[in-house]
Amino acid sequence: MRQGSHSPIGVFDSGVGGLTVLKALMSHLPHESTVYLGDTARVPYGTKSGEVVTRYSLKNAGFLLERGIKLLVVACNTASSVALPALSAALPVPVVGVIAPGARAALRRTRGGGVGVIGTPGTIRSGAYQRELEAAAGADGVKVKARACPLFVPLAEEGWLAGDVPRLVARDYLADFARSGVDTLVLGCTHYPLLKDVIAEAVGPQVELVDSAEATAEVVAALLEEQGLLAHAGGEPTHQYFVTDVPERFVEVGARFLGRPIHSAEQVDLSF
Ligand code: DGL
Repeated sequence: MRQGSHSPIGVFDSGVGGLTVLKALMSHLPHESTVYLGDTARVPYGTKSGEVVTRYSLKNAGFLLERGIKLLVVACNTASSVALPALSAALPVPVVGVIAPGARAALRRTRGGGVGVIGTPGTIRSGAYQRELEAAAGADGVKVKARACPLFVPLAEEGWLAGDVPRLVARDYLADFARSGVDTLVLGCTHYPLLKDVIAEAVGPQVELVDSAEATAEVVAALLEEQGLLAHAGGEPTHQYFVTDVPERFVEVGARFLGRPIHSAEQVDLSF
């Protein structure tokens, strides 16, 4: 099938988290059809090696490509931080990750040059945000403070978004940020936008939060426009969901991440 403006945007993530990115895409690009793949059989990616995450990512991308996508969004921060070069080299369509858009948005917002980044252990260990921030800042320079916050993922999935437990966890992870001259904090994981309130409270009002999902949706909109691939208004967009394990939990938890009901998701076998 030949891709054109009518073709869907493909989005993959390790599971439900990438639905925060899909939500931002749907709100910025309401006429676009989308195909989402959550690799729920192999989640989490955040604790796995870069080599394994790259292998999974190539498999996910291959599946979406067979569905005739015109552009791939790598919604997972961990996959974006380790697999983007391999994906871009392997795919015949544009590939957009969440790291560069998030880093660039942070540099546009920072007032004093101190940028914090939080994400999974894999994302932080890869140094991808740190490298992107430094490269984009160039001669202006930027002071980066990065930290992995692994407990935020299960808290977000459990819907534990307010109250003592998430507040204490956030304070423990983030107290240092408030004291270290950081004025902008990148939410470098798909799950963290759900915990925005407790994160904001832990770092204090002088620190501005940057949502990589929002920044990515803006980059995708600009890229589609530039390449003449924007869907035309008038048609009814379709949204398809695929998962690699049974769909029940994805459908239930996913609705919270997406902010709208997910009526069905189809299980597919990507084993290799
Ligand atoms: N989607 C992952 C990310 O944004 C978080 C969940 C996981 O570890 O797989 O890094």
